[in-house]
Amino acid sequence: DAKGAGLTVYEWDNVYFPNWPWLKDAHLKALRTMPLREDDVFLCTYPKSGTHWAHEILDMLLTGKTDKHQLPTAPLAGMTMDYIEHELASPRIFNNHLYPKHMPEGATDKVKVVCVSRNPKDIAVSMYHFNKVSPEMGYDGEWSDFLPLFLEGKGIYNSWWEYTLQWWNAEKKNPNILWLTYEDMQEDCFHQIKRVDQFLDTGRTLDFMETVNKRCSFQSMTKSLQAQHTRFFRKGEVGDWKNWFTVAQNEEFDTFHQQKMKNSDFTVRFEL
Ligand code: A3P
Repeated sequence: DAKGAGLTVYEWDNVYFPNWPWLKDAHLKALRTMPLREDDVFLCTYPKSGTHWAHEILDMLLTGKTDKHQLPTAPLAGMTMDYIEHELASPRIFNNHLYPKHMPEGATDKVKVVCVSRNPKDIAVSMYHFNKVSPEMGYDGEWSDFLPLFLEGKGIYNSWWEYTLQWWNAEKKNPNILWLTYEDMQEDCFHQIKRVDQFLDTGRTLDFMETVNKRCSFQSMTKSLQAQHTRFFRKGEVGDWKNWFTVAQNEEFDTFHQQKMKNSDFTVRFEL
C-alpha cells in the first residue's frame, strides 16, 4: 500500500488500521454507537506501550483471579459486534488504540478508562520488530528505513505524537481516566497496581496485589504465554532503544520530539 510507504495498512477516516481481511469501515463506524455497560473498562494505548501487560493487571484485579493468564482475544477494532455484545463476559475490558474521535460515544464520560503511554524511542524499536514478525504488516525493511516512517506516522495508528497529544489534550483532566506509563510500571509495578485497584474500586488485598505483581512480571507472562503470543513479548525493558539508535538518529529524534511537544505539558521518561 503506497500510503503506508512500505507498511501495509488499512485506512479509515484518516487513520491507519491493521490490514486485517475482516476489518470493515462499517464495523469501525458501528463501534461509535455500541451499547456500553457501566462496568466496562477501556484500555487505551498506542501500540507497543505495554497493552498486554496492563490488560493482565486489569483482568486479575477485576476478576479476583490470578491462576491463569488471560490475554485479550483481540483489540476492540478486531472483535465482532456479536462477540462484544453476546460472548464477552462483564466486566468487559476493551483494549484499543483508537483516537478519541473514534471511541464509542460517551465512553470517556460514562465508564472507566485506563491510558498507558510509553516513551516513543522504545516504541519505535518495539514497533519495528513487531512489524517484521507480523505478516499483516508486510514489512521487511531495515531499522534505518523504519525510523523515518515512524516519525512521519506512516504505520498503524499514525503518529505517536498525534495519538498521545490528542488523548492528553482532550482528556488530561478527566477524572474517569487513569494515566499510567510503561516506565512507571517498570520502576514500581506494585505501586501502579495499587493505583489501578483504587481507580477501579476493586478493593483487593495487599497480598492479592503482590500475587498480581508476580504473575504479571515479564518472566511469568513470557513463560506461560510466549508459545502462542510470541510477537507480543520481546525484551520488556526501558531503554533498549540505546542498542538501536545511532548518535545521529538520536539527535534527529530529540529535535523532532522537542518540536512536537513544545506546547505540551506531557512528560516522557526515556530512561529510568
Ligand atoms: P518490547 O518490544 O520493547 O520488548 P503491547 O502489549 O502494547 O503490544 O506492548 C508490547 C511491549 O510490551 C513489548 O516491548 C513487550 O516485550 C512488552 N511487555 C509485554 N509484557 C510485559 C511485561 N509483563 N513486563 C514488561 N514488558 C512487557
